[in-house]
This record gives sequence, structure tokens and C-alpha cells, in this order.
Amino acid sequence: MTDVASKGPDRDDDRRILTNRQGHPVYDNQNQRTVGARGPATLENYQFLEKISHFDRERIPERVVHARGTTAFGFFESYGTWGDEPISRYTRAKLFQEKGRRTEVATRFSTVIGGRDSSEVARDPRGFAVKFYTEDGNWDLVGNNLAVFFIRDAIKFPDVIHALKPDPVTFRQEPNRIFDFMSQTPECMHMLINLFSPRGIPADYRHMQGFGVNTYKWVNAEGETHLVKYHWMPKAGVRSMTEADAAAVQAGELGHATKDLFESIERGEYPEWELRVQLMSDDEHPELDFDPLDDTKVWPENEFPAKPVGRMVLDRNVGNFFAENEQIAFGTGVLVDGLDFSDDKMLIGRTFSYSDTQRYRVGPNYLQLPVNQAKSAEVRTNQRDGLMAYYQDQAGESPHVNYEPSITGGLREARYPTPDEQGPEITGRLTRKRIPRTNDYTQAGQRYLLMEQWERDDLVDNFVTLLSQCDRAVQERMVWHFLLVEDDLGLRVGKGLGISPQDVSGLQPLESQDLTEEDQKRLAALG
Ligand code: HEM
Repeated sequence: MTDVASKGPDRDDDRRILTNRQGHPVYDNQNQRTVGARGPATLENYQFLEKISHFDRERIPERVVHARGTTAFGFFESYGTWGDEPISRYTRAKLFQEKGRRTEVATRFSTVIGGRDSSEVARDPRGFAVKFYTEDGNWDLVGNNLAVFFIRDAIKFPDVIHALKPDPVTFRQEPNRIFDFMSQTPECMHMLINLFSPRGIPADYRHMQGFGVNTYKWVNAEGETHLVKYHWMPKAGVRSMTEADAAAVQAGELGHATKDLFESIERGEYPEWELRVQLMSDDEHPELDFDPLDDTKVWPENEFPAKPVGRMVLDRNVGNFFAENEQIAFGTGVLVDGLDFSDDKMLIGRTFSYSDTQRYRVGPNYLQLPVNQAKSAEVRTNQRDGLMAYYQDQAGESPHVNYEPSITGGLREARYPTPDEQGPEITGRLTRKRIPRTNDYTQAGQRYLLMEQWERDDLVDNFVTLLSQCDRAVQERMVWHFLLVEDDLGLRVGKGLGISPQDVSGLQPLESQDLTEEDQKRLAALG
């Protein structure tokens, strides 16, 4: 190593010497090299050019959604059983097997619509993404705090996000754009009832639930499958804010939730969540009034109890926000043996989208970054090269076989743990159709009726405030939907906007919707 002890009396101290990335000592970090003290500067100014051009590239594109977020690390501990039933009866995923087994995790909480430095009290769904570094490789559970979502087919995702994001000309989040889209998308009613109630502004991340939202599968050692939904319950309890609470917090701090999480971990008050799962046999469940693969629906807990399977504790903050929060990459396709996809049409679309955006946002070798690497499993691939590749697969091994199959050497396929066929048999013709049993209003209405009076008041106020800024046609269609969700909701929002049920009784159902018998009755009652 070069001895780069500094010279000069004022530079003699114990601190280590600044270098550039090439390891060259920096002798002067205040002045460029110039011809004479007043310039001109010259192009061989390597140290200056490296410094400034790296700075020019300090930002990677922020996430197209969920740009504002924060990450912490910790562990997941399996309970191994619920009651006297072993979890292994339903999944062979190793991380759930015996009681007390711990798996390292990284968890990122986020808002959805705002940019990287936006306010954390925005009324917005919150992201709740957990990366489990399991011995079988990584598992990502990428969820939100509201249990359901706006849409049930991934093809609509860019539209719903465009409607929610700022106007492309004024760059203001416009209620008219949001409710224009929502008024034409009845499947979003359940999500809207959640989002515009106090639950739409969680007090902070430590007091927030998380949900996988989409339906996945569990696979056991015999290859039997069950449908599964995931829930995270905060040990500290659930807390939310009203608009007034949020305005007061925002007046003093834009990043209160990031600050709260960081500081509580620094203090040694480690936040904890319990993971619970709901299970269903792997079929279409014609007895239900909704489709179990529909992410605009919850599964009633009295019929499908949420069973505790483990706990997660977050006990370490990031060492560097950029490396571990901006560059961390989650995806719904990242599953391990014993966990599987369902045919949920959102889940399938999401699974393509995450790794696609990450190859663009972070780069094609994003999985080589420390925070994204499989920490507890060995990685051996035949992938090579690409921008910023630094991981050397099979370095130093001979022969140099980076393909498969081969009789010369190299890597071989793993053996299936069980027969590779699993789940129900499916037949069908290619088509573009919405699922049967869309039933867009029932659960939204049930949710409204379950709210306490102050929550309903807050919900109605929020709808009236924003819908007042919308075109009359949008207001009328939204009141029409709310009347189908629950009379009281429709009447109250209508009253706030000066719209009566008679005013909207002439509106026809949208082409994009199927009404249930109950919906038809409510519709007939309007006139
Ligand atoms: C982030 C796409 C639905 C939860 C993202 C990102 C994309 C995306 C492109 C940015 C990822 C990155 O840059 O690393 C989609 C698509 C969806 C969808 C196409 C529907 C078809 C959902 C749903 C949920 C969700 C239903 C909740 C259950 C999240 C979370 C993040 C995220 C938590 C942030 C992950 C992180 O913290 O890095 N989504 N998303 N998304 N999405 Fe989705």
C-alpha cells in the first residue's frame, strides 16, 4: 500500500486520507488543475472529472411508484405450528417448518404516488414489502396496508396510476382525474372506501398492518396446494390520522414515518409484526359470492380464520440509505419451494413488471447488489456479463462450462422435491373476459357498515371535499356507485354535493360491470 501520509503542519491529524475510486490520494480537493491560477482548466483533470461526473450520476431513476420509502432489517421467526397442527401440513417452505427457526429479512415501507422526497402523511396506500433471505433463496412478499387493491387485472395498472399521479401539464394531483377514472371502474369501490377513511393515512409505519393482497398458493410435501392470503399485524397496534392530524404533522415534518421507524430502532424499541395466513382449498369456490383470486376482495375471517405462523422483528437500520433502500428490489415472482403463484390476473402481471422495471431502474445486474443477493443460499448461474457485472460465477473453476447440459462439467439441474405436477387441472379457450362474480359493491358496503360513526363522517367529508372539485358528470356517477354500495353513504355524499338519488336514477350501468340481484334492487329503488 502506498504511504500517503499528509504533508504540511495544518494537515497532520489522525484522520484517514481521502482518495479517488482508483485509490489515488487526493492532494487538493479545493482547486481544479488550471494553467495559471486564473485558468483555463485542462481536460486531463482526471480527479475533477471523476468527481463531478460521478456526482452527475448520483441519482438513479426513482421507482415509478412507491418512490418514497424506508428500509429496515431484522428477522422472521416461525411458530412451526398453529394449535396442534404443524404448518408443514400446508407448506413445505423451509422457513416455516420448525418452531423458532429464524430467517433474516429486509422490509421496505413506502407511499405510492408521491416522489422520493414527498410527504409521508399523504392519503395514499402504503407499501409493505418484505424480503426473506431463506436457505432456499429469497422470498419477497410485496404487499400494502389496505388488504385490497383498486383493480383486478394488471392491464389496467398504468391507467389507475396515471389517474392518481399528477396531471402531465399542471403537475397537480387532480381530484377530477382520479374520480373520472374511478367512476368508470366500479371494482375500485372497496379500495376507495378504505383509502378515504382514516385508514388511508396510517399514523406511521410501526402502527400499520400489512397484507399480501394477492392470492398465492402453499404447496406441501405431497404436492397438495392451498390458496393463501398473508396478513401482518403490528404488535404496537394500528393507528391512523385524520386529515387534520395529517396537516399538523406535515407542517413540521415531511418524513415523519421514516424518522419514527429509524429512531425507534436506534433507541432499541424494535417494532414487531405477527404474520397470519388465511387458507382455502385450491378451487374456484362457487359457494362464495366472490372469486378467491380477486384482489378487490377480502376473505371473511369467520369462514377463513387468520392463523398465526410467525413473527417479524426489525432491529437494524440501513447502513446507507441509497445502497439499501433505493437499490433494494422486490418482486412478486420471487418465491421459494413450497410457495407458489395462483392464477390471480394481477399477480401474474405484477410478476412481470417488478423485475422488468428493476432491470431498467437499477440495472441488469441488480441482483448482484449486496441487499438483493440471496444471503442464506448459494448462487450459481450460467448468466454472464451485462452492465456493471462484478459477481464472478464459478470463478477459478475448470473446465469453463457456462452452459447446460454438458458432459464436460458445469452446473446440473436440481431434482424436484416432489412430483412436478400440482394443483387442479385447467381447461379453457383463449379469451379476454372479466372474471365471473365481480360483485363490486357488497364488500365495500360491509366495510362502510363496520366503521365507527367518526370514521364514516371522516370518509364522507373526504369524498365531498374532493368530489366538489370534480365535473358534475363525475360527481353524479360517483354518487350512483355510492348508492349501490350503501344507501347511507350515497345519500350523505350526494347531500354534500347537492345530488339526490332521483338526479342519478337515469344513469345506466356501465358496460364494464355486472350487477348482482341486490345491486338491481338498489338501482330500482333509486327512481
Ligand atoms: C412497487 C408495479 C400492484 C405493492 C412497484 C413498482 C412497480 C410496480 C413497477 C416499482 C418497483 C421498483 O422500481 O423496484 C405494479 C403493477 C401492479 C402493482 C404492474 C399491478 C398489476 C401492486 C399491488 C401491491 C403493490 C396490488 C400491493 C399488494 C408494491 C410495493 C412496491 C411496489 C410495496 C414497493 C416495493 C419497494 O418497496 O421497493 N409496483 N404494482 N403493487 N408495488 Fe406494485
